[in-house]
Amino acid sequence: MTFKILVTSQKGGVGKSTLSANLVAYFSRQMQLKTTLIDWDPHGSSSNWLLHAPNVGVVVQHLSLPVDQGGNRPIFEARLQLRHATKTSDIVLCDLTWSDSLAGELMFEFDMVLVPTSVSEIELGATSGFLSRNRWVFDSAAARRPMLLVCPTRVLPEQLASNIFTKQRFPVSFMLAPPVQESQTARDLYERGFLMDSEDVCGFSFLQFAQAVCAAREMRMAQNNQTAKSAPIVANAGLGATSSDRFANSTAPRASVLDGVVGAAQYSILGRHRQRKLAESEQNQTATSTTAAATDSSRSMSSLGIPEFIKRMSRGTSSAKF
Ligand SMILES: Nc1ncnc2c1ncn2[C@@H]1O[C@H](COP(=O)(O)OP(=O)(O)OP(=O)(O)O)[C@@H](O)[C@H]1O
Ligand SMILES: [Mg+2]
Repeated sequence: MTFKILVTSQKGGVGKSTLSANLVAYFSRQMQLKTTLIDWDPHGSSSNWLLHAPNVGVVVQHLSLPVDQGGNRPIFEARLQLRHATKTSDIVLCDLTWSDSLAGELMFEFDMVLVPTSVSEIELGATSGFLSRNRWVFDSAAARRPMLLVCPTRVLPEQLASNIFTKQRFPVSFMLAPPVQESQTARDLYERGFLMDSEDVCGFSFLQFAQAVCAAREMRMAQNNQTAKSAPIVANAGLGATSSDRFANSTAPRASVLDGVVGAAQYSILGRHRQRKLAESEQNQTATSTTAAATDSSRSMSSLGIPEFIKRMSRGTSSAKF
């Protein structure tokens, strides 16, 4: 089944197109998945990136969405475009600057809504407002509501230690991705190459982020399989369980899906999922290679210095821990 991602925010310049172009490149080249980018940005930043950089096999479509018309028109148009793209793709990613004229229903067309945000107070306020206006989508009881993944972008080294996501009163529960760090490389690589090939902090943090998105995709697919079998959703089985069920007003620390697994990966729920996957694969390997893999992974995750703030997701209060 095709996994559909909407990369969006109302704020300009937060890194939507940078993440979009690099994420589709990662899905196509690293994950060997058939991938389509639909660029709904009139400026075409992400599609131009893909069209000029070395070919990584992504199908690139620079299409228009009648954003200003509001109502159902953009939704019908999006549905048509998505239907066409999903026929041939494992992944369809759409790059869109959100506008208040758009109806939140559009987000139900997607499996994941990925919201990049810088971590300045002003931009977090804007992100919080955007999520607040659309909280009914993410809090919806509908089985097909999209997962919400917030990605801190353009994060400076000194901001890594901040606790901003717990202070900020976000109105909905969300998954917090590993932060993508600020670096000149991201600008230099525009239309020339990809962050996954960069060996600086930006490239490394991007890889952590991309792996987290892959982990979220796996969870969504597992959830879809579960739903198909009409099995009850187990609270800690994945991120698909309802946000309100799992996180609302929770004061008790949540049971980790990876109890006993060490390493900085446990800082985020996505990281823990990844660690669990790692632990599962370890069982299928020899004792020697298993130890080496686990050590390497812990070391690489730790060296990012993933900060305290991504340990948490908040829903109105900072009490929800995991
Ligand atoms: N991690 C990063 N480090 C440094 N610069 C970055 C990073 N990510 C993005 N940028 C730069 O920030 C600027 C805006 O990025 P981008 O175009 O991806 O944002 P956007 O949200 O798509 O903007 P718009 O709303 O205009 O479409 C660009 O100059 C880009 O090179
Ligand atoms: Mg853009």
